[in-house]
Amino acid sequence: MDLLHKLRTAEETARGSDGRAFPGDVHIDAILGPGEVSIAGRRTLMFGSTNYFGLTWDHETVAAAQDAIAQYGTSTTGSRTANGTLRLHADLERDIADWFGMRDALLFSTGYQATLSVVGGLCGITDVVVVDAESSDAIRDATCHTSARVVTFRHHSARSLADRLAALPRGPRNKLVVVEALDPVRGDAAPLKDIVDACRRHGAYLVVDEADSLGTLGATGLGCAEAQGVLHEVDFVVSSLANALASVGGVCVSDHDELRALHFLARPYVFTASGSPATVASARAAVRILRERPQLRERLRANSRQLREGVRAAGYRVNSTDAPFVSIFAGDERRGVALWRRLLAGGVYVDVIRPHTRSPDDWVLRASCSSAHSSEQIARAVDVFTRARDSGREVRWASPSMGILGARAPIGVELTPFVADVAEERE
Ligand SMILES: Cc1ncc(COP(=O)(O)O)c(C=O)c1O
Repeated sequence: MDLLHKLRTAEETARGSDGRAFPGDVHIDAILGPGEVSIAGRRTLMFGSTNYFGLTWDHETVAAAQDAIAQYGTSTTGSRTANGTLRLHADLERDIADWFGMRDALLFSTGYQATLSVVGGLCGITDVVVVDAESSDAIRDATCHTSARVVTFRHHSARSLADRLAALPRGPRNKLVVVEALDPVRGDAAPLKDIVDACRRHGAYLVVDEADSLGTLGATGLGCAEAQGVLHEVDFVVSSLANALASVGGVCVSDHDELRALHFLARPYVFTASGSPATVASARAAVRILRERPQLRERLRANSRQLREGVRAAGYRVNSTDAPFVSIFAGDERRGVALWRRLLAGGVYVDVIRPHTRSPDDWVLRASCSSAHSSEQIARAVDVFTRARDSGREVRWASPSMGILGARAPIGVELTPFVADVAEERE
């Protein structure tokens, strides 16, 4: 069979015969303001963006990006290891390290690369990487890119982690545990206190990914580890700059002096162009804003509460956490995608995420909140959810199209043998 056959059938199946919108192929024509966009000429409430504080439009972040372009141009055109470091990179690293009260920070071109770089840079053939069995893509892909032995433990179970660590051979500290602070699909926080404890007892280093919790959780916005009082017990905190910080990029923060060596060692860092002047400068402005305006976090929390309670009252099963997004447990693929389409048709955009657990019935719609949403916008969204539920009672799934999502979802995560084999080892 021709190599391109898979691609052709994937597209055809995804589109279906009715030509209706499908996840992963929505085109946004214009941004109309905080929380609203134009899709196919229609005003649509945006709850699919992790622009948690609306800072992509803050006048300070925009001005910082514009000044940086005027001063440094549009691109770094290469890796820092090859082309050198701009003062802007060093300034943002210092600011983030200072925010965390840690020794150092290292920037990456994306959050995804930060995880790949830290795992790949730290671990090799003689080492063991221990990860939550329901980790999402960045961690899962990092385990595919390392020659280290990979061991998984049961989702959010510190007991299972401790058991897995105890079963490993004793010896020098060559064990690296990697976890997401906040489950990016269901929004529940990892038991970091107990995870730290298990790592300590068994001599393992710990990486915590705070992609959705940086800026949004913790007394000063440093995430779940801060909220659980164990920030300084974590060896490496990684995060995206694309969510709360409204930019593009990733970062790793650590008290370990050795962090800087990733500048020479980590292949996804060494072989990729570094963050552009505009993205680095806007992230720096965003850090300053989040440090100066804790009230933004309060507002985000209030908005998430309003949306979560409204959607729950409308009859949906939702997560009950402090996450800045509402997870709507939609059931199987047919129901999940049909609901997503009804919401879009009603004027609300949310993310649709296919299961990365064992069950094919774990489809989740994720509605991300922003402190920039007005309570009137949230009320309108809840109204659309209510109507989508009522109209859903008559809806029949007409298209045989969604097979694509079983092959490779354009949006969301995919069940792979790695995740299917919960608590199995790959050696
Ligand atoms: C847990 C987690 N890690 C990593 C990433 C990837 O971040 P980025 O988009 O900056 O590559 C995301 C996406 O937000 C995420 O949710």
